[in-house]
Amino acid sequence: MSHLAGKHIVLGLSGGIAAFKSAEICRALVKAGATVQVVMTEAAEHFMTAVTMQALSGRPVYTSQWDVREPNNMAHINLSREADAILVAPASADFMAKLLHGRADELLSLMCLARPIDKVPLIVAPAMNREMWANPATRRNVAQLQADGIHVLEVGQGDQACGEIGDGRMLEAEEILEDLEAFFTPKALAGQAVLVTAGPTYEAIDPVRGITTLSSGQMGFAIARAARMAGAEVTLVAGPVSLSTPRGVRRVDVRSARDMLQAVEQHAGAAQIFIATAAVADWRPATSAAHKIKKDGSGQMPALGFVENPDILATVARSARALSGELFCVGFAAESHDLLAHATAKRERKGVPLLVGNIGPSTFGRDDNALLLVDALGAHELPRASKQVLANQLIHDIARRLGAAKA
Ligand code: C5P
Repeated sequence: MSHLAGKHIVLGLSGGIAAFKSAEICRALVKAGATVQVVMTEAAEHFMTAVTMQALSGRPVYTSQWDVREPNNMAHINLSREADAILVAPASADFMAKLLHGRADELLSLMCLARPIDKVPLIVAPAMNREMWANPATRRNVAQLQADGIHVLEVGQGDQACGEIGDGRMLEAEEILEDLEAFFTPKALAGQAVLVTAGPTYEAIDPVRGITTLSSGQMGFAIARAARMAGAEVTLVAGPVSLSTPRGVRRVDVRSARDMLQAVEQHAGAAQIFIATAAVADWRPATSAAHKIKKDGSGQMPALGFVENPDILATVARSARALSGELFCVGFAAESHDLLAHATAKRERKGVPLLVGNIGPSTFGRDDNALLLVDALGAHELPRASKQVLANQLIHDIARRLGAAKA
């Protein structure tokens, strides 16, 4: 379940062309189970109508501090007391400057100023032209807003409504939702660096053919996302997959098992947790032909010799940092039957404290899965759920183990 479920978000719109994205933000928040109260400045109403935002949020929109619907006529107080967070998206350059000075000449800025600062976080998603974003005045304002405890989201880069290209676009709705969800997720892995492998590897036979394994990479990507949400700094070493990188995660793309080992060894030294979800090809062709191998008319495929690939997980699990407990290693096992027996044996063979078993054919390419967590004391099951839910549970479980190890 999303950490946004049950949250009450006051969504503020100041004036900017990015206001069209606020409709999508509102819809996505409601879909995630949040309640949304929209507050708009007069400038925002030039870009987006209150009617649209009312229809999407299911609540009348507030646009004025003189709103007679409030019995005490204190909309700025009432609205800010009910909120779990205030999100201003778009936050124009002018609106940020107003926040900075504590100006309060219309409802949205008045409400931001009146919010209980230690209870109601204020998150702003800037949106402006690249010159406005780069201007020293805006730079100063962003730094001061952050120093005042206001969460200033990043800006996007690219085409701007004015025709120029650069930094200052408001993030897309799904990126803002992702950052908001991360904001509400308990930081069980704060200060930890997590290294994850995901996807298959591809072992070339010649420039156009190769052998690979069945893996969509979804489980590993979900784990990387969950670890980032939990406050970790995440590096994701991905084999060839067609998945987009979870927000806030550093991704390193690799192709073969040997490339994957090299990338893992490069990043393992800085990590406290290594989670190997990749379905690494066990063998690779002994030689990879420089040119496409042609049919020779014999009706036979030319004989290929295979050599075993390095075992990335076992290699890392044997390193000094893993053996001393500085690096916690987690392996995965995709089996077709006898999951408990195979996962238990594999845990010992790989030399890892935690091995996560799943049934291969019921996970490959699917959005859901079921996991069996095997450690030195026994096994415990995470019942069938979406891969993201399982990833969140697994990250929570690992954080608990590390917390227990430290205590
Ligand atoms: O031996 P098996 O492939 O079943 O082991 C699965 C676990 O080992 C997974 O965590 C996988 O990512 C890891 N592994 C690896 N390098 C290999 C083979 C498997 O890291 N060459």
